[in-house]
This record gives sequence, structure tokens and C-alpha cells, in this order.
Amino acid sequence: MSTIYNFNAGPAILPASVLERAQHELRDYQGRGMSILEMSHRSPEYEAINAEAAERLKRLLGVGNEYHVLFLQGGASLQFAMLPLNFLPPGASADYLVTGAWAEKAYEEALRVGQAREAASTAANDYRSVPSQADIALDPHAAYVHITSNETIQGIQWHTWPDVGDRPLVADMSSDILSRPLETQRFALIYAGAQKNLGPAGVTVVVIRDSFLQSASSNLPTMLRYATHVKNRSLYNTPPVFAVYMVNLVLGWIEEQGGLAAIAERNQRKAATLYQVIDTSGGFYRGHAEPDHRSLMNVTFRLPDEALEKRFVTEASARGMVGLAGHRSVGGIRASIYNAMDQEGCGALAEFMIDFMRRNG
Ligand SMILES: Cc1ncc(COP(=O)(O)O)c(C=O)c1O
Repeated sequence: MSTIYNFNAGPAILPASVLERAQHELRDYQGRGMSILEMSHRSPEYEAINAEAAERLKRLLGVGNEYHVLFLQGGASLQFAMLPLNFLPPGASADYLVTGAWAEKAYEEALRVGQAREAASTAANDYRSVPSQADIALDPHAAYVHITSNETIQGIQWHTWPDVGDRPLVADMSSDILSRPLETQRFALIYAGAQKNLGPAGVTVVVIRDSFLQSASSNLPTMLRYATHVKNRSLYNTPPVFAVYMVNLVLGWIEEQGGLAAIAERNQRKAATLYQVIDTSGGFYRGHAEPDHRSLMNVTFRLPDEALEKRFVTEASARGMVGLAGHRSVGGIRASIYNAMDQEGCGALAEFMIDFMRRNG
């Protein structure tokens, strides 16, 4: 097999050891003579996977029974609606901090459900930063405050959480969950599509504080109530068993790496390798994000013109570096360097960037 460095934004790179373990267990799961794909979700085997994945996630996030972990379907996009459906009753209003394409989507969806406000927006500077505390104007009665911890498309990230007082803080962490230690207690609810840092597409993780759950609306269809899934430990209906199995393996891999502190250190080093090339390129590479707001997961930058960007992507791909084209809405280059990307991959890309600049600068 040739070496491929996978910089896809999601679905994205998974740890090789996890894929190998899944491959090894696929035909015959732990001597049962069949695949986990073929077993009942009510089987003791799947029950054990479901429970272990939830426990591992809680351990990594440093929380106990005051939080519930759910494995749901519908992607982070369904969470954009499910959150206000549960926590935005008539007469209430929620605050959204709009920092990029994904926060915009979450905000727009809340407006379809109920009343929401933009408590801050960095649209005017083309989403190159998150807002400063001084630029956030919170509603004293906000039902919750929503942030997007990492904007996958623009490549910006919250490095210091906003102070929201005692309002419930909710975060879409789809593209940076478990990439660094987290003060989970600050959050009433966290959600994340799995297909970047947690596993394959098909499952969405929700972490919800029990006291917040108690305030949820009960006047909703069964599948749209968080309480349904809490009560049934994510087994109300048939869960995406294989995706949860994969998430469990990825969580085990994170623990083996030394947990979130070790992962964060690796991620810092990886991102610095790429940002250093941008910063020393004399303007050949222009990072999208302001330096203090740069994402450690999605490194976004432009080249002098679009023809060079196209050539960059084509040549990189010929050298085994795939998935580098920026999102279709913003163009440019985006290197997604989630947890499973190693330093070697970032080093290879940095070398290519230097070489490409030498030949085209
Ligand atoms: C930050 C963020 N939020 C939400 C989504 C949407 O996730 P899904 O495709 O699981 O609905 C994405 C997908 O890339 C994302 O990056």
C-alpha cells in the first residue's frame, strides 16, 4: 500500500491501528462467528460496546453521572434543530455567537424553531477571528448561548471560552472534540458529528448536563427529545452499531496516546509546523485566520492566485497528500489535521509547501 497523507475535512483520517483492529474483528467479532454488523443492538456484545464508549467519553471529558452521553443519528445538522426544539420554548430567546459558516447554519436553524439573537458576529472581518468578550452582547435572559468551538471551513477556533455568566453554554464541537483538555463543566450541552475526531460518519455524540436536561420541553415527537435517548441509553431505536463500535475503538486509541493532554501537545506541534511555513513565506502563503484565532485542526490559507492553488492541490495529490482543496464556499487550501494525523504527515506537507514556494514564488 502506498503512503497517503489524508487531509480530508470529514469524513477524515482514522488511526491506522483502529482500522486494522476493525478489519481483524470484522468477520468474527470476539469469537462469536459473526460480525458486529450482524448482531442485535440488544445483544450483550453491543450493550458492552455502547456502555464502554459512553464511559470512555465521560472519562476523557472528566465528568461523572451529572452528564449523559448519547449516540444519536442525523448528524450535527440535526442538532442545530434538536437543540432549540428542546430548549427554546415559546417566549424564550437564545443567543448565538456567529463565527463562521457552521455557526451561521446553527443560528439560522434556531430561527426556524423559535426566537434567537446574534449576540456577536465576526462576519464583518470575514470570519478571521472569534469575537472578543467586549464585543459579545448577551441577553440577560438567554435560554442558552451557542458557540461553534472550531469553524471547520474558515479555520478559526475558540482558545478561551467566552464568559456567559450563569446562562447555559452549548457548543458544536464537531471538528475539535477531544483535541485538547476540556473544562466540560462549563458546558450545558456539547454535540459533535463523529466523522472528524471520533470515528466514521453516521453517529453524533451529545453530552448533556442532567440539570439542563430537566428543563427540556416534553412536548416533542419521541425521537426528537433528548430525554428519550437518555432514558434508553441511546438504545431507544436501532443505533448505528458499527459507527459506535468504531467510536469506541477511537476513544480507546486516544486513551492509549496518553489522553487529551498528550493529544493536545501533539496537535500544537503539528499545527505549528504548518503555520510556521505560512509565517515565513514572505506572503506567498496567506493564512485566513488572525494568528491568535488559528485553528489547530483546520489550517486554511491562500496562494497568490487561484491557478497556483489548483496546481498546489494537484501536485500535492500526486505526492500522496489528499484532501487539501479548501471548502467550495471559500476556496484556497485547507489542511485538516485532526487527532489521527501524525507529525510525519504535517512534516511532509510543510516540506512540500516550501518546495512549491521555491518553484513558484
Ligand atoms: C463545525 C461543524 N458543525 C456541523 C457540521 C455538520 O455536521 P453533519 O454533516 O454531521 O451534519 C460540520 C460538518 O462538517 C462541522 O464541521
